Amino acid sequence: MTHLVAPSLLSADFGQLKQEVEMINNSQADWFHLDVMDGVFVPNITFGFQIIKVVNEYANKPLDVHLMIVQPERYFEQFRDAGADILSIQYEAVTHLHRNIQAIKELGMKAGVVLNPHTNVSVLEDTISDIDLVLIMSVNPGFGGQKFIENTYQKITRLKELILKKKSNALIEVDGGVNLENAPKLIKYGVDVLVAGNTIFSSSDPMETINLLKK
Ligand code: DX5
Ligand code: ZN
Repeated sequence: MTHLVAPSLLSADFGQLKQEVEMINNSQADWFHLDVMDGVFVPNITFGFQIIKVVNEYANKPLDVHLMIVQPERYFEQFRDAGADILSIQYEAVTHLHRNIQAIKELGMKAGVVLNPHTNVSVLEDTISDIDLVLIMSVNPGFGGQKFIENTYQKITRLKELILKKKSNALIEVDGGVNLENAPKLIKYGVDVLVAGNTIFSSSDPMETINLLKK
């Protein structure tokens, strides 16, 4: 499979949200990545259902929603109704991971699990067969534009081994500090989905940057 690119709207210009969505529609991007933060799980607050609904109204590609919130299970149905196609929850934010994965899938969405930089991939040993996507955080969640953590490469290798061992179909997604320099190496290590915010939206030609990340 050729890798996917998911621009993170966190770094987009929200005063021109419709145009930003249309730019991504017209690019070679595959998904929209939407970062929901609650100011409790992470030291930042972003947006919720209302903004996701607006994106969903104009987007012609799947919405990849990354929840950085405590007790995410309270809102699964509302995120589905807002337009989420893939719903990812932080491993560190939930008690009943297995139950939550099943609940997301029963609502008709793909289920993703996110691991913070300090969380070992081995914690997914007993759930990897049920998971559609594993998102490895390559920065500490909360903000765009941070520096990529180099230890991520060996986590990708260990996750790939676990996926093969358990014959799981889970995709590997990496989020945080992805740029044009580390993207080829990440692909070589087996990443299926690249998330990028700052690299895309702070460039002089965001659409061209998306297309370069696709190459
Ligand atoms: C960070 C978010 C990321 C963020 C990535 O907590 O999960 O999706 O937007 O931004 P960059 O690509 O700028 O590191
Ligand atoms: Zn994210």
